[in-house]
Amino acid sequence: MPMNTTWTAQEPGSDPVLALPFVREFLRLCDDGFRMRFHERNGGNLSYWLRQEEIRMLPEKEPKGSWIPMEAAVPALGGEYFLITASGSCFRNISYAPAENTCIIRLNDGGSSWQLVWGLRNGGRPTSELESHLQNFAIRAQQPERESRVMYHAHPASVITLSNLLPQDSKTVTRALWSSMIECAFIFPYGVGVVPCMIPGGAKISGQTAEQMQTHDAVLWAHHGLFCAGKDFDSAFGLMETIDKAAEIYLKFLASGQKRRYTIPDAIFEEIAQALGGKMNMAYVHGGGDDPADE
Ligand code: 13P
Ligand code: ZN
Repeated sequence: MPMNTTWTAQEPGSDPVLALPFVREFLRLCDDGFRMRFHERNGGNLSYWLRQEEIRMLPEKEPKGSWIPMEAAVPALGGEYFLITASGSCFRNISYAPAENTCIIRLNDGGSSWQLVWGLRNGGRPTSELESHLQNFAIRAQQPERESRVMYHAHPASVITLSNLLPQDSKTVTRALWSSMIECAFIFPYGVGVVPCMIPGGAKISGQTAEQMQTHDAVLWAHHGLFCAGKDFDSAFGLMETIDKAAEIYLKFLASGQKRRYTIPDAIFEEIAQALGGKMNMAYVHGGGDDPADE
């Protein structure tokens, strides 16, 4: 992926778009993700789906430039607006020079092409994972109680390490994470889906990711990273942090060289499912995964 190299710092007062609350939250998440070391170089990307009242706040709503077709159409999102990181943008630069490293795009009515509304001041395009972000939004929009406004993709080292150790199977990965600390089952009760290792970017990986997003809160891309959906910035970032921390705990336990001696009993996960009113992936509540720590 080509990287942008020259930047002009943008002060918040220099552009009314930068003062909009959702833009400020978006930029804050980029800084926090960088500080967490979730983003080497241009690794990772972030998107936000604007609400109607937020579109009305834009100083200029009309797109400019030509329509750019996408590899996979998202008819359910036709006409919608998204704030999204630019392809090749390093997270350490995003809040420093947002108009160059992010953009607001609008989709055409059929959801097959995008046009620029704001940003990309030096040219470029939205993230190479645009299709994954949009297809995930479309999937989650079909489930009103799990509707998501934020999609966050990052490369947390602990989570990527799991793909070197665990079978690439959603139940095993979810159970390994849930069993690391009890809050996990409350924070991602639908578990973590897994997509096998494949070339980043475009329609192939986005199709498989969206399929997993239908039944999970987050999707692990083997040997690559993690995709988290959230109703807001705190939820998406908190999910990334929690899964990263659970993965770290799991790896520390494995590094001890001991087999698992004590575990969270399945009965506790059953109680959590009850506490959540059954809003949990019940296929994962009972053990029997393929975790090497249990062998
Ligand atoms: P972009 O720079 O195109 O967003 O790609 C980064 C990445 O993490 C690809 O998966
Ligand atoms: Zn990536």
